[in-house]
Amino acid sequence: MLLLPLWIVLLVIKSVVIPGDKSISHRALLISALRKGITKIHGFLESDDCIATARALRMMGVTIENKNDVWLVHGVGLHGLKAPKNSIDCGNSGTTMRLLAGILVAQSFDSVLIGDESLSKRPMMRIVEPLRKMGARIEATDGHAPLNITGGNVLHGISYTPPMASAQVKSCILLAGLYAKGKTEVVEPIKTRNHTELMLEHKGNIQVPGDLSSAAFFIVFACIRQGEAIRLPAIGLNPTRTGVLDILRAMGAKIAIENQRCFGSEPVGDMIIHASKLKAVDIDEAMLVRAIDEFPILMIAAACTDGVTCFRGIEELRHKESDRVQAMQEGLTNLGIRVDVDVHEVRVRGGEFQSGVVDARGDHRIAMAFYILEKLIASNIGVINGDMVKTSFPNFHEITYHSSIF
Ligand code: S3P
Repeated sequence: MLLLPLWIVLLVIKSVVIPGDKSISHRALLISALRKGITKIHGFLESDDCIATARALRMMGVTIENKNDVWLVHGVGLHGLKAPKNSIDCGNSGTTMRLLAGILVAQSFDSVLIGDESLSKRPMMRIVEPLRKMGARIEATDGHAPLNITGGNVLHGISYTPPMASAQVKSCILLAGLYAKGKTEVVEPIKTRNHTELMLEHKGNIQVPGDLSSAAFFIVFACIRQGEAIRLPAIGLNPTRTGVLDILRAMGAKIAIENQRCFGSEPVGDMIIHASKLKAVDIDEAMLVRAIDEFPILMIAAACTDGVTCFRGIEELRHKESDRVQAMQEGLTNLGIRVDVDVHEVRVRGGEFQSGVVDARGDHRIAMAFYILEKLIASNIGVINGDMVKTSFPNFHEITYHSSIF
């Protein structure tokens, strides 16, 4: 076999730079605001969701600056937030609303959290109930936003087992726990992403890894399109998030990881993806939790196989920015793909696509999944209500229009 020097291989393989991790960017802002002193954040994701978190903190007196793409947070300490003059608008961002609620219930002032139409439909009792157990006064509106929070309470620690696997619920309780008397503990039947726990250890200089959930769109593209390999540098590889890689590898994907290292406590690596033939697989609930945001693009991957792929433990997917089970079922069905759904699982039968119209329902990940499919099958898919990609991936279209990999 001819062994090529590494620099030749690197020259041949085209790279796509994936923007920063959304979950880590939120936590970088929130936790830095609660420290004393300045935190520097490199690689911060300037997406609508993360900007909503920045805006919320600024409303409470936290100075946040962007200097030459380094975000500087002037932390005010645990008790330094000021009463906001208006309701805090979390936009489309469930992470902003749920994590912030955990902090706000412990403040001396009252606050109100509102969101857009999609966020106002998402379940909030999952945080209201445990926060009340801690002594918080928080009211939801028919179980949803707006959330009305009354300040001035003394919180106490609890041991809580959430009825669903949710990092947002866990993080909300842990952040409230920073203010509580005694120990706060969240017992997880299935482990969810642990970015909050890791971020609480940071020392004032944060480097945000590339977002694996955004990378997933290009990983699936590179697997299925029978072309040259693609390199994705500095992608987050936290094991609580890498279900998408395990699933794709089980499907036959060729994904190599090089240059493994850590950004703070977060594992990171450079990814090289070669084209391969994907096959159908069975995905269980524990695996799906580790790939929860990648369901839409994994459904596309499944539809491109010759067999039936089964996703189990899909209940939480109905409570995302849209009902993602329904959105993907409807979208793929419109394109001639058979999708069967019951309460706990969804089965996709790979097959020939026909052209058709898909409603992304204002959900960024549904939209991006179908835009990638359009590139893959070079066929006419009309994506409607798909202009929300800035929620998590501001330059998605720029990459798909201008990168030479497309
Ligand atoms: C997130 C947790 C997940 C995920 C969301 C981001 C986070 O939501 O779907 O995009 O940053 O904690 P749940 O905790 O509701 O499952």
